[in-house]
Amino acid sequence: MEKVIVEQLEDKKLISQLMFSLIVPRPIAWITTLSKEGIVNVAPFSFYNGITTKPPLVMVSIGKRKDGSLKDTSRNIRERGEFVINLVTEEFLEPMVKSSADYPPHESEVEALSLELEPSTVLETPRIKGVKASLECKLYKIIEIGETPMDLVIGKVVAFNFEPQLLQSSKGVVGRLGGKRYTIVDNEIEISL
Ligand SMILES: Cc1cc2nc3c(=O)[nH]c(=O)nc-3n(C[C@H](O)[C@H](O)[C@H](O)COP(=O)(O)O)c2cc1C
Repeated sequence: MEKVIVEQLEDKKLISQLMFSLIVPRPIAWITTLSKEGIVNVAPFSFYNGITTKPPLVMVSIGKRKDGSLKDTSRNIRERGEFVINLVTEEFLEPMVKSSADYPPHESEVEALSLELEPSTVLETPRIKGVKASLECKLYKIIEIGETPMDLVIGKVVAFNFEPQLLQSSKGVVGRLGGKRYTIVDNEIEISL
């Protein structure tokens, strides 16, 4: 068993590696946002989770680009006050990964990756067509945190769109592991007290 005391660590890069490899599997928020000009942006985020159910709050941690500028997702959420979290299942694994490439703000990942969109139930921001669930969120709060600092975006879910089958099984849902590894749910165990 290796032990790392963060204060004594010289190679700070190891911290990211440990965070990414030891906090697993992580859910993936595949986020659609709208720019001021109406361009749809798509990008994945795995530092993501639910926070409370009353009200239904979720959090997504969005870092800065290497040059210190805001990622398109952060900028759009700040400008429009809303975003949609699309659930990633096996059939969307490849486009989800490709949507993490650095596209310039005026270029939409939607056209580049031949994704189709459909209108959301409550929000102006569209969701990705064919996904098994999407959570429509209004911006609740942004907390700037950390040394960079990055954006801890808290959203309040205002509408859930979902395939009812998901309430019985998560088969096919994709999670993020360390490095460039992913997992696909194919083995569920039900245990009660
Ligand atoms: C599976 C996956 C998970 C990711 N998770 C995060 C994350 O939690 N926070 C983050 O800042 N970037 C994360 N990224 C990187 C962003 O997707 C990437 O920076 C993207 O270009 C941001 O796009 P945008 O500028 O259109 O918002 C992740 C990438 C992948 C492939």
